[in-house]
Amino acid sequence: MSLLLRALNQAHKIPQIHVCCSSSASVRSPLRTSQERTGHLKWLCASSPDVLESVRGQVEVWENFITEEEEQAFLKELEPGLKKKRYEFDHWDNAIHGFRETERIQWGAVCQGALNRLRAVAFPEGSQLLGPVHVLDLDKTGYIKPHIDSVKFCGSTISGLSLLSDSVMRLVREDNVADWVNLLLTRRSLYILRNEARFKYTHEILKDGESYFSGQRVPRQRRISVICRNLPA
Ligand code: OGA
Ligand code: MN
Repeated sequence: MSLLLRALNQAHKIPQIHVCCSSSASVRSPLRTSQERTGHLKWLCASSPDVLESVRGQVEVWENFITEEEEQAFLKELEPGLKKKRYEFDHWDNAIHGFRETERIQWGAVCQGALNRLRAVAFPEGSQLLGPVHVLDLDKTGYIKPHIDSVKFCGSTISGLSLLSDSVMRLVREDNVADWVNLLLTRRSLYILRNEARFKYTHEILKDGESYFSGQRVPRQRRISVICRNLPA
């Protein structure tokens, strides 16, 4: 299903020199206050303070959103089904390289509890969610190329849990590729992309060899993401 959800956009060349503006000194005070209050600043790094400011409230990373026990519960539910599939590597036109995926509607109590918390923090009240939760299993060598999720099938908000590995998600402004934001997605964290960050920026998960955050290497292992989306309004 979900290849349908992705409108691949790889026209850009991503700039190689990154200026990280996540040090608090370089950030204007309203942003710093807000980010410090929510504890998110550490996980965001952008091409300029203006870009960081422009995605304020539209990009969130919650470290340790789920516990180790919850991560294990997700694995226990997902691994038997995933194991039956092969990682796909060779479709040149896919947005994702080295992956297998599935969808799930019914969850056991532990996973359902974590998903309820995700929904409570990520989505506006009363928003209609895409029924099945999307599960994407990236091989250690797998990665997601820049794309924007289909506006026809998904609404304003995309939110995902990262299991098994740290990773870097990069957002690049579609109409100005010099503007980018990196998100450090630590193992068991939650990320949320809303509105402009979801519609005006492509998102991608960097491959192991390019996986750096703020100059620091972020080694990629196998990574499973559990992704919830809402429906278009
Ligand atoms: C996707 C996607 C991100 C993730 O499947 O469209 O962007 O966290 N996934 O796996
Ligand atoms: Mn996507």
